[in-house]
Amino acid sequence: MEEKILEVLQRRGEVHTEELADHLGVVRHTAAKYLEILKAKGLVRCRRVGNAKLWQPMAAGLTIRPLRREDLPAILKIQQPFERTLDPFAQTMSHQIEENDSILSLGAALEGELVGFIVGEIRQWEFGGGARTGWIKALGVATDFRHRGIGRGLGEALLEEFRRRGVERVRTLVDWHNGELISYFRSLGFDLMPMLPLEMSCKGDRSTNGGRATATDLNICKGGPHGDQGD
Ligand SMILES: CC(C)(COP(=O)(O)OP(=O)(O)OC[C@H]1O[C@@H](n2cnc3c(N)ncnc32)[C@H](O)[C@@H]1OP(=O)(O)O)[C@@H](O)C(=O)NCCC(=O)NCCS
Repeated sequence: MEEKILEVLQRRGEVHTEELADHLGVVRHTAAKYLEILKAKGLVRCRRVGNAKLWQPMAAGLTIRPLRREDLPAILKIQQPFERTLDPFAQTMSHQIEENDSILSLGAALEGELVGFIVGEIRQWEFGGGARTGWIKALGVATDFRHRGIGRGLGEALLEEFRRRGVERVRTLVDWHNGELISYFRSLGFDLMPMLPLEMSCKGDRSTNGGRATATDLNICKGGPHGDQGD
C-alpha cells in the first residue's frame, strides 16, 4: 500500500486524502493511516487547505538554485556540527556566494526554506597533470531532510554544470572516517584518486629540523623534485 501511495503521489504531485482513497479503492481512514506512516518515515508531507489535507512526496517542490547572501544563516546552521568555530567557514561561504561563479554554489530549497547546499569551483590547471578540474569544497543537507534524495539532487546538478563547462574530472576530499559522506560520493560515481594527500603542521619551531630533509635538499626551490639540476 505504501508503495502504491508513493507512486500516485509521484505521478500527480499533490493529492487530497479523499482523492487518494478513491483512487486506491480504500476508505478514507485507511488512506489517512498509511499517509501518516509515510509522513513519520519522512517520505511525504502535507499542507492544509481549509479542512482538507494535500499530500506531496517529500522531494516535490524541491528547488535547486544558486545560493544567495540571505542563505548564509541556514548554511551555517547545517554546517555548525562540523566546525569548531564558524567564523572562517562563514567568511569563506560569504566570499564564495558574493565573488565566485553563482552556478557553482547551489542551494536546495523546500517551500522557501534552505535545506541543503553544495559549493564547487573550477581550477583551470591542476597538479598531477589534470587539466580543468572541478572541486567540491563543501556540502551539507539539514539533518531532518536527509535520505530524501536532496544530496543526490545537489550533487548531480553541480556535476552537470561541471560537465557543461568542459571539466574533465571532479575531485573532493573526505574525512577517512566519514562513511556516510564516502558512501554518498560513491553513489555519485566517485572513486579513490591515485594520489596521496600529504600534510604537515606549521606550528612549533622547525628551525633545527631534526635532521629531516629541507626544501633545498629536495631541490624544490630549483623547479621541483624533477626540476633544474644544472646550477
Ligand atoms: C552526505 C549527505 C550530503 C547526504 O545527503 P542526503 O540528502 O541524505 O542524500 P541522498 O538522500 O540524496 O542520498 C544519496 C546517496 O548517498 C548515500 N547516503 C546518504 N546518506 C547515507 C548514510 N547515512 N549512509 C550511507 N549512505 C548514505 C546513499 O548511497 C544514497 O544513495 P541512494 O539514494 O541510492 O540510497 C548528508 O548526509 C550530509 O549532509 N551529511 C553531512 C555532511 C558532512 O559530513 N559534512 C562535513 C564535511 S563538509
